[in-house]
Amino acid sequence: MKSGILYAGAMVLALSMNVTHAAGDAKAGQAKTAVCAACHGMDGNSNGPEWPNLAAQHAGYIVKQLKAFKTGQRTNPLMTPQAQALSDQDMEDVAAYFASQKVKGSEADASKVALGQQIYQGGIASTKVTACLACHGPDGRGNPAAVYPSLYGQRSAYVVLQLQNYRNHTRTTDKGQAEIMQMEAGKLTDDQIKAVAAYIQGLR
Ligand code: HEC
Ligand code: HEC
Repeated sequence: MKSGILYAGAMVLALSMNVTHAAGDAKAGQAKTAVCAACHGMDGNSNGPEWPNLAAQHAGYIVKQLKAFKTGQRTNPLMTPQAQALSDQDMEDVAAYFASQKVKGSEADASKVALGQQIYQGGIASTKVTACLACHGPDGRGNPAAVYPSLYGQRSAYVVLQLQNYRNHTRTTDKGQAEIMQMEAGKLTDDQIKAVAAYIQGLR
């Protein structure tokens, strides 16, 4: 009985310590993102079409991807060494900083938006593609609790690359979550990928 009470006390302590650690410090994070700015921009709006915006991305998703790069679950020659240099606390801090920034976004390719919107909002019945909004939300803001990333205003060239990487299974991350996207992207043609990516870039 007595040891049961002690155990419960230790659990509460462990939980509260976890919470303290998990909360990143955006101010400390800003200083640590100087090295990231060359590609992702000072405010998380990236400097190149194949480099993702990180502004307003959910902190939990950013940390998850950084860990995936560090352990080699997700690989990229530019990004892997960057993640390897970060401690767990660095990851929490940079994630808190980027999550607090605003997406500037850019214009969508007008010739592709109509088809892209149709896929994003309604899916494709004939090939059983699920509407993207089911998980990423009508305005592309994702779902932090489920770790469904925010997509609105994301650069279309980056989105095309990621959908192709999911489709050919070179983007794996963790099994459960990445498999969802491998399955959805596996049903998309190149033209459908380009269309939905154009729509996502224009989302606000
Ligand atoms: C030399 C360029 C470069 C630098 C510097 C860089 N990154 Fe990246 N980063 C990339 C590229 C390229 C990708 C996309 C990789 C892919 O296609 O899978 C990426 C992807 C990411 C992702 C995944 C985004 C998503 O939406 O899934 C995160 C998070 C990230 N970087 C964080 C950082 C942080 C934090 C730093 C600084 C410590 C940093 N990056 C520095 C090039 C860079
Ligand atoms: C059932 C939920 C679900 C549906 C439906 C879904 N997604 Fe996703 N999506 C996810 C999850 C979970 C991830 C993160 C997977 C990982 O960790 O690699 C993700 C990741 C992505 C990414 C990578 C984001 C980044 O920053 O790197 C893109 C792009 C994307 N989804 C686009 C789409 C598009 C386009 C559709 C519709 C055709 C779609 N998704 C449908 C759950 C979903």
